[in-house]
Amino acid sequence: MNMRATASPLAAELKAHTGRFTDKEFDWNAFPSNAGFPDLARAQMRYVGAGGSPKVGDTSTLKADNFTVSLIYKEPGKYAACHSHEIEESFLIIDGALIVGWERDGEVCEVNLGPKDMILNAREIGHGFRVDGVEPVLMSISVDVGKPLPPVYHYHPKEHAPELARAFGAKPGETIKFDPAGDHPLQKLMAQYVIRHVDQPTIWEDAGFSRKVYVGEGGLGHDTCRKEMWGVPSRVGIKGFVRDVEDAFLVLEGSLTVGWEDNGETVEVELGPRDLVKTPAGRKHWIRNDGAGAATVWHVIGSSKGDDVVYEAA
Ligand SMILES: [Fe+2]
Repeated sequence: MNMRATASPLAAELKAHTGRFTDKEFDWNAFPSNAGFPDLARAQMRYVGAGGSPKVGDTSTLKADNFTVSLIYKEPGKYAACHSHEIEESFLIIDGALIVGWERDGEVCEVNLGPKDMILNAREIGHGFRVDGVEPVLMSISVDVGKPLPPVYHYHPKEHAPELARAFGAKPGETIKFDPAGDHPLQKLMAQYVIRHVDQPTIWEDAGFSRKVYVGEGGLGHDTCRKEMWGVPSRVGIKGFVRDVEDAFLVLEGSLTVGWEDNGETVEVELGPRDLVKTPAGRKHWIRNDGAGAATVWHVIGSSKGDDVVYEAA
């Protein structure tokens, strides 16, 4: 970075909108309702907003406009008790395998999600999750920030037997496996909210990078924010574009340079895995992959509406 870029207000603003994985810490006390229940232990790293934690005053976190972004880490054998929100919440799996269960009237439908799969937890649906695999799970959670009310617990081990809580409220024999072709109403409902990475079409933009739409046109129906997985080959970049809402790039693999322009001045930052840049509404910005390997990037856009952004090769 040159001296001018270091000194300029635009460079400072870009730095302030960058969440570096290595500057952050996982918080093992983000969720007070888990305290005293080792089986519920999970850690949260907040990038944008508090993401369902009451720790809204965290100054190392970027301010949320229309969405939050955080990472959640959970070890094998641990689970999250069945609860619901008045907002939609997405889980994007980064590493490991996660069982997510949706409960209704004592029956639970469970889906096993792998890396790059996503579930959008519907409003008011009881949901929990559990790590049954041999490796820990790292996932990215986003919620909308409409009304950040505390979660409502349906089967917390405080009030229910541990076996029932671990099964998200299903008694033995009342767990149904996820099946998009299944006839059970819970299977049918869940099928509208699960994205398998390998099932989503890969869209190649003329600008030379790929997109898989998770939430938005071509992906799940929704009314909060668009979510896409981008693949940016080595030495590909796109010209500056402007959105009328904020967006965020969270690098999953490889590295990605994000640039901003304001009044003819340009600044850039290179992101590595688990680094994020949030760009405010109205700011001209671009991306470029200077690395030798492809970059895989999670892209969240602060509106459910499509926009007329056309990506052009730089
Ligand atoms: Fe939740």
